[in-house]
Amino acid sequence: MSANANKGDTARAKPLINFLQGWPNTSLLPTHLVRKASNNVLSNSILSFPAMLYGPDQGDPRLRENIASWLSDFYKPPKPILLDRITITGGASQNLACILQVFTDPLFTRNIWMVAPCYMLAFRIFDDSGFHGKLRAIPEDDEGVDIDFLRREIRKSEEKATQEGNNEPKLKPARPWGKIYRHIIYAVPTFSNPSFKTMTLRRREDLVRVARDFDALIVTDDVYDFLQWPSSPNSQTSGLDTAVLPRVVDVDRFLDGGSEREGVDGFGNVASNGSFSKICGPGLRTGWVEGTPKLAYGVSQTGSSRSGGAPSHLTATFVADALASGELQRHVLDTLQPSYSSRYRSMISAIETNLLPLGVKIPQPDRDVVGGYFIWLTLPSSLRGAVVAQRAKEEENLIVAQGDLFEVPGDTDHASFPHDLRLCFAWEDEDKLAEGIQRLASVIRNMQNDSGGVDAAMQSTTGESRGKDAVRNFW
Ligand SMILES: Cc1ncc(COP(=O)(O)O)c(C=O)c1O
Repeated sequence: MSANANKGDTARAKPLINFLQGWPNTSLLPTHLVRKASNNVLSNSILSFPAMLYGPDQGDPRLRENIASWLSDFYKPPKPILLDRITITGGASQNLACILQVFTDPLFTRNIWMVAPCYMLAFRIFDDSGFHGKLRAIPEDDEGVDIDFLRREIRKSEEKATQEGNNEPKLKPARPWGKIYRHIIYAVPTFSNPSFKTMTLRRREDLVRVARDFDALIVTDDVYDFLQWPSSPNSQTSGLDTAVLPRVVDVDRFLDGGSEREGVDGFGNVASNGSFSKICGPGLRTGWVEGTPKLAYGVSQTGSSRSGGAPSHLTATFVADALASGELQRHVLDTLQPSYSSRYRSMISAIETNLLPLGVKIPQPDRDVVGGYFIWLTLPSSLRGAVVAQRAKEEENLIVAQGDLFEVPGDTDHASFPHDLRLCFAWEDEDKLAEGIQRLASVIRNMQNDSGGVDAAMQSTTGESRGKDAVRNFW
């Protein structure tokens, strides 16, 4: 029997560990809370009849109100957030599509600028809105986004548009509730999926300035902000009830006269996509968008919301009830933050013990507060992520996501990730996290020890694409 066949048999004998799947562990789903909230709504006709009918375009007013007050408590902006800045959505993914429907024209809107590595499931949403071939990668640096690069490239894109006479929207008529932006910038500024980085305040401000200079709408998926904890294992607190930084939308609201300053159209330059997927359950398909009142209203005028009312209306009323009682906020602070913190610590301490000695690196290692679902690892340059992922599956029954999955299609010159991996600590049971890292260490050690280690690491693209296909089955 060959050595490889032996390894395959050993791998199959081991229980699967999946570090690719970006879902919450089922033990963290607050089913009891949703049951109680749905019961409250459905057993009271004052709540249940409007909940079972078409909702208002901007969504359940009670949920808008409760979200606004929760966000005000958490982000502590200089002025409270009022409900006119909030529209209820079907979650961050669904709402990205709505934003593109109302605020872009696939011919006039020049490019989609994506901070890379990038949440890969956003690519198709942009493609579906006519932006295939117009996606551009902006590299990240230690502060979160390379602003000089963005400014330079966006300027070139504008020069090209001027030469081509691309001066007005071609496919979308002018509408009083919307506008067509020249550029879209897409980012996950806090506890990013996938890079795990948090963009500094300085970069958030610079990003808003670039957007204002070039008529861009920045769309941020702020879906992990509430899942935060101190990075130090010695910290006395496991939970934090105030955000680490203002969101990019908060920066836009107040910077240099703010998003509604005199002489501007009042739509602002940022839309913040929030979601209950990570703080309650993804099956709810409920979220919200925050922006200026004009922008929030504009999103609600998407054709599908005009026809059917705000999406996810019934579940939105359940979430409104869970927020009104304060139970969802307590779930985040008392259950999610400590659980994710503990999971993160298990994984990071296993990484420190088993992987750092092999030359693996973690980005932004010295932050006081960390969060989200994912850790990004950079492998020693002799190892390719695709090959590590493939061998991890074959030899250890371990699934990890290789860095090249998060490259912006068609634009890898300045942002490619052949030597990286993304690991999720949210899905697997906590007691499997350290074991998964030990299995990964064993794969890396084998590759480093193999006489053909470096050659194997550089092996043919056939092997790499096989690895890519294998992991895709687990999205
Ligand atoms: C950055 C980012 N955006 C959006 C989503 C999906 O959000 P929703 O479930 O609200 O559509 C995810 C989930 O993994 C994500 O990581």
